[in-house]
Amino acid sequence: MPLRGWVVKTQVAIVGAGPSGLLLARLLDRAGIRSVVLESRTRAYVEARIRAGVLEEGTVNLLREAGVSSRLDQDGLRHGGFELAFANGTHRIDIEALTGKHVTVYGQTEIQKDLADAHLAAGAQVQYEAKQVQLDQLTGTAARVRYQACGAWQELECDFIAGCDGFHGVSRQSIPVERLRQHERIYPFGWLGLLVDLPPVSKELVYANHERGFALCSMRSATRSRYYIQCSVEDQVTDWPDSRFWDEIRMRLPEPYAARMAIGPAIEKSIAPLRSFVTEPMRYGRLFLVGDAAHIVPPTGAKGLNLAAADVRVLYEGLAEFYASGSQALLDEYSSRALARVWNATRFSWWFTALTHKFSDDAFAHRLQLAELDNLRHSTAASQAFAENYVGQL
Ligand code: APR
Ligand code: PHB
Repeated sequence: MPLRGWVVKTQVAIVGAGPSGLLLARLLDRAGIRSVVLESRTRAYVEARIRAGVLEEGTVNLLREAGVSSRLDQDGLRHGGFELAFANGTHRIDIEALTGKHVTVYGQTEIQKDLADAHLAAGAQVQYEAKQVQLDQLTGTAARVRYQACGAWQELECDFIAGCDGFHGVSRQSIPVERLRQHERIYPFGWLGLLVDLPPVSKELVYANHERGFALCSMRSATRSRYYIQCSVEDQVTDWPDSRFWDEIRMRLPEPYAARMAIGPAIEKSIAPLRSFVTEPMRYGRLFLVGDAAHIVPPTGAKGLNLAAADVRVLYEGLAEFYASGSQALLDEYSSRALARVWNATRFSWWFTALTHKFSDDAFAHRLQLAELDNLRHSTAASQAFAENYVGQL
């Protein structure tokens, strides 16, 4: 039976040290608001996860406000457009000309490291390997978080809990199910991703619609590429030796791209299922759900991290107002403000996925996709709507 430790008082308990949890912790720390971060995994495990890498301007600005942008400002790649590949040709969406904005390509893995380094450098700590995290008294005068660490039960008493613990975390599950509405779409395919230390096939991202399925050419730097292909949900990574991956992606790209693609041994390969998921509301009493704990989008368009950062901004502004003036007005708006953006990104990610992926062998459906892609060549209005959603709201 583990020993019982002290009750520690803090202002905000943050469950989860992914990008949502650590970004919130950094912003709160800089505003003089005390927090404790609990993470069930080790730092090494959290930093080994490979995720998307396209940042909206609003996300970059928030990382700057949090004081964690020095590497991002130096190494981030500024992109003013991307390519759509279909019908053996390409069409460029010039996001800079259409919106006046750009996106920054910088891997989430690097952001995760930057956040953890900055947190440590500020003298703050993350309780890694916190086990059996339990949330309690969420509608009481003070919330409680219990967890096991170093062989003892620990307890936090706090004003608020930020549930930043991802889709499988404990926070959402701590809300009585009758108080939530959950919406979900599972897609009938997955993404097989491959990381390779070779120059990317193109300076910009290439999203390809092909009758064999979707493909994406992305990058992490001038010498590191990130590629994806749509695969079956039943596939295992072992079904895809490197040679099969390279053959397949080249078949899905227009000829000149396939011909010049540099291929070599993968340094990472993984399969992710695709899901749309939204929980509403994103608050229950003193608990606020943030990022993947509240919503998941398919990766087409790379909105996941940007949505998480947008939630963090709204919650941070509410907490800062509360601790400055005692007013809960902004905190009371958290769920509705966050959900407005979440639903728009859910719509956009679903639409972009539907435009570019193979859902069935139905030739009619594929012809409609090609017609919609071709319409982007001719319609500035359609291209502009696409670009506005791609760069995101500020
Ligand atoms: N107790 C403590 N920590 C937990 C628990 C728990 N019970 N359950 C999960 N966690 C931790 C996970 O180990 C993980 O490190 O919470 C963290 C959640 O991090 P993410 O899943 O990365 O979620 P979030 O920080 O909201 O980041 C959203 O990540 O998944 C991508 O596309 C998504 O880019 C978006 C971003
Ligand atoms: C990535 O680089 O991992 C990436 C880029 C764009 C996306 C999804 C993922 O839409």
